[in-house]
Amino acid sequence: MAPQFGDYQLEIYLNGLGGTVPDHPMTFAELERRAEAALPPGVWSYVAGGAGDEHTQRANVTAFERWGLVPRMMAGAAQRDLSVELFGLALASPLLLAPVGVLGICTPDGHGDLAVARAAARTGVPMIASTLSADPLEAVAKELGTAPGLFQLYPPGDRELAESLVRRAEAAGFTALVVTLDTWVTGWRPRDLSTANFPQLRGKCLANYTSDPVFRARLAKTPEEDPAAVVREWATVFPNALSWADLPWLRSLTSLPLLLKGIQHPEDVRRARDGGVDGIYCSNHGGRQANGGLPAIEALPGVVEAADGLPVLFDSGVRSGAELVKALALGASAVGLGRPYAYGLAVGGEDGVVHVLRSVLAEADLLMAVDGYPTVADLTPQALRRLS
Ligand code: FNR
Repeated sequence: MAPQFGDYQLEIYLNGLGGTVPDHPMTFAELERRAEAALPPGVWSYVAGGAGDEHTQRANVTAFERWGLVPRMMAGAAQRDLSVELFGLALASPLLLAPVGVLGICTPDGHGDLAVARAAARTGVPMIASTLSADPLEAVAKELGTAPGLFQLYPPGDRELAESLVRRAEAAGFTALVVTLDTWVTGWRPRDLSTANFPQLRGKCLANYTSDPVFRARLAKTPEEDPAAVVREWATVFPNALSWADLPWLRSLTSLPLLLKGIQHPEDVRRARDGGVDGIYCSNHGGRQANGGLPAIEALPGVVEAADGLPVLFDSGVRSGAELVKALALGASAVGLGRPYAYGLAVGGEDGVVHVLRSVLAEADLLMAVDGYPTVADLTPQALRRLS
């Protein structure tokens, strides 16, 4: 039988009979409040902040309120099955840990990437590991256990370095390559600008570079001897404004499933398809990159249509099980959780991430139970009504 994620609810109520209440927050608002209290101010503003006045970031969340799930009664939803298949992987649910580049510094020990990988191992929720981690990708992969890992690549301008990172990800057992296209230059982020704080430029979360033989060969001294040179070299190789002419090169990097992250326009979907990608990742980077854009969920239906059967991943604005269910109904094959799990990490480390993942899945499962949609396949656009 498929796992009934909603059972987390019963577990919490039964624990309450013995006088135990949950250690970790049950609402996103409380999670956010406690994460702010837990994190150093510079890390908090980097994680919570976004581009411009953060209108797009907020709209990513509120846009979901314009959609409502239509309840169906007596629909046989006593058992739910949230399982999906993605690139040949049998997943118990369509939830993913979206790549977040500063997980490492969200825990006091500086090893937040490893804590998240352990949470993935405990829940089976796949982790998309960022290029920008505080521990090398090999160490992250080791903690994943049997949970699938996908590797997110920011393709450096130095192609030899890009190839080295991909070879390492393959060797470490990552099952897909997610290339992020929307962050070759950093968006205008007033919160970080006002404190002149950008973690990578302070040498944080660059372990994949400092552990890479190609990157190290570019340095005159070892990273330990000359940390400032690491940052200078990173700032040189990181910006890489790709064009569609580079897609054959990206495709040639790996025979693993290749996904492009940051796609929102149907024409870009068609170009990606024509270039042989295996999946599209519809996202506006949580509104961190460009203010003034549409909420990402508004782009999803057009992306799904243009994808024409190719898997479409989605993130940006998912805060609870309700947004997960709505994104699935609008055609997402799987859905990435971003800030909520980073906050869970800040508040409670590995256990905090597990709690956030279990809560999102429990809520989604119970919505599907109450509203009469027993499987992911039952969640179609017809299950939703749009408010004008
Ligand atoms: C991100 N995101 C991101 N994406 C990516 O492809 N590589 C990365 O290294 C990062 N780093 C990163 C850091 C932080 C602090 C955040 C909050 C986000 C974007 C992430 O994958 C996802 O698109 C957003 O988090 C989705 O928005 P919400 O739902 O978190 O608001």
